[in-house]
Amino acid sequence: MKIAFIEPVLPTRGALAVGAGKGGKLSPPAADLDKRTNGAISRAIKASRFKGGKGEHVDVLAPAGIRTNHVMVVGLDNPAKLTAADFRAIGGRIVANFNRVGAKDGMILIGPGSADNDLSLAERAAQIAYGARLRSYRFDKYRTKQKPEVKPTLVNLKIAVNGAAKAQRAFGSLDKVADGVFLTRDLVSEPPNILYPETLAQQARTLTKLGVKVEVLGEKKMAQLGMGALLGVGQGSDRPSQMVVMQWNGNPKARNKHPVAFIGKGVTFDTGGISIKPSANMHDMKWDMGGSGVVIGLMKALAGRKAKVNAVGVVGLVENMPGGNAQRPGDIVTTMSGTTVEVLNTDAEGRLVLADALWYCQDRFKPRFMIDLATLTGAIIVSLGHEYAGLFANDDKLAGQLLAAGEEEVEPVWRMPLCESFDKDINSDVADIKNIGSGRGAGSSTAAHFLQRFVNDVPWAHLDIAGVTWSKKPSPVAPGGGTGYGVRLLDRLVRDHYEG
Ligand code: BES
Ligand code: ZN
Ligand code: ZN
Repeated sequence: MKIAFIEPVLPTRGALAVGAGKGGKLSPPAADLDKRTNGAISRAIKASRFKGGKGEHVDVLAPAGIRTNHVMVVGLDNPAKLTAADFRAIGGRIVANFNRVGAKDGMILIGPGSADNDLSLAERAAQIAYGARLRSYRFDKYRTKQKPEVKPTLVNLKIAVNGAAKAQRAFGSLDKVADGVFLTRDLVSEPPNILYPETLAQQARTLTKLGVKVEVLGEKKMAQLGMGALLGVGQGSDRPSQMVVMQWNGNPKARNKHPVAFIGKGVTFDTGGISIKPSANMHDMKWDMGGSGVVIGLMKALAGRKAKVNAVGVVGLVENMPGGNAQRPGDIVTTMSGTTVEVLNTDAEGRLVLADALWYCQDRFKPRFMIDLATLTGAIIVSLGHEYAGLFANDDKLAGQLLAAGEEEVEPVWRMPLCESFDKDINSDVADIKNIGSGRGAGSSTAAHFLQRFVNDVPWAHLDIAGVTWSKKPSPVAPGGGTGYGVRLLDRLVRDHYEG
């Protein structure tokens, strides 16, 4: 789908969207259409249950007096109170509806709106376009026999607004973030026979052309560095493990030379290993590389919009398989930090991968902070369902910034507890620590405590994204499937606090 910004005109074909507020109060462009159609718009509203609330719309078909055959009236509720997130949702809903009705060309006519709204007209138009683009995502490269009637139809979307050039500029950097979100969605959607550690590393390498420095560490190098925890997880697989280090140096003159750092769990398939998972829904474990997908997509977003920040991304890529050489429950591995780990459950593998990735990252880069993302525990889904990611942090300032960014982007996080007794719960009888708790519950917290043993004294936050990486249903800004959750959240964090 192509998006263009133009000065307001009435379209000569395709579908057109205009807004109406609470009680069906027509916006100026909608009132103009109503006049031209001899009242067809207001009659359609009266004849329907449309009340002008958020998420509502009414379709007016073939009204006389104008050339477009489809007018979609979108509910705005109170236009003065609409936030950036509301505008994104409006854009997303319009795209979904235009595709549903089979429109090839679409236009969104944006009026002057409410002068009381805090957002400029250009910003409102840009957010509508951003939501539209995010919702237009598709992953259908493996469907070779899709019927035309189920394919999306919308090819051209015009955003008609006064001062189109300004709106276009405001959209520029958002469009780059959407590129990052799309990459993340692509990566989590790819099947595990196609996407495995080496091919995922190859995908990360493509960021080189945006100016990201990309290094790939193979098994030999990781063995030299002493990454026994990460390597232990991958040893049952025929696919060699990889670690990818990405650096975006967008602020070479920064006073604080230390970068911000993002670390991702990249288990390209998690069978559970010898502690094998039940077969029902095991295919979901293709997206157990979701954390690494977010880090790669985020690096693409930052580099794409030339963010004035120095950022590092580190992803640990492994396939967790049973096999003749697979890790056994009871094995003891030595991590890069020197801490030894008793592996009591080979399905608690993400923390083993992150242990070495986190240690390596703080040791090499001395970052300002580290944020890791991981589809780490089923327990976080029990706690928070599919709306919130679990946030664990050793730093209240960083936690506060993440909570605020999550609200702004509607990628919400909920802070979860760390405490001494959970921490004690991972002490082992035979090694320094063990990779599962003693079975007293709080599984997401004991997993977080495991990670904390490898962060040293860096400000750190851990996002458990097991519940939010994949969605069975569409949201206003995503069609269902891989959500890309985390890219916008972390881009927002960087934008608001760590640039320049
Ligand atoms: N990848 C899973 C967690 C997961 C579960 C992600 C469901 C997404 C959806 C992780 O590696 C895992 O298996 N965790 C175990 C830990 C347990 C053995 C302590 C779990 O959550 O059951
Ligand atoms: Zn697992
Ligand atoms: Zn896993």
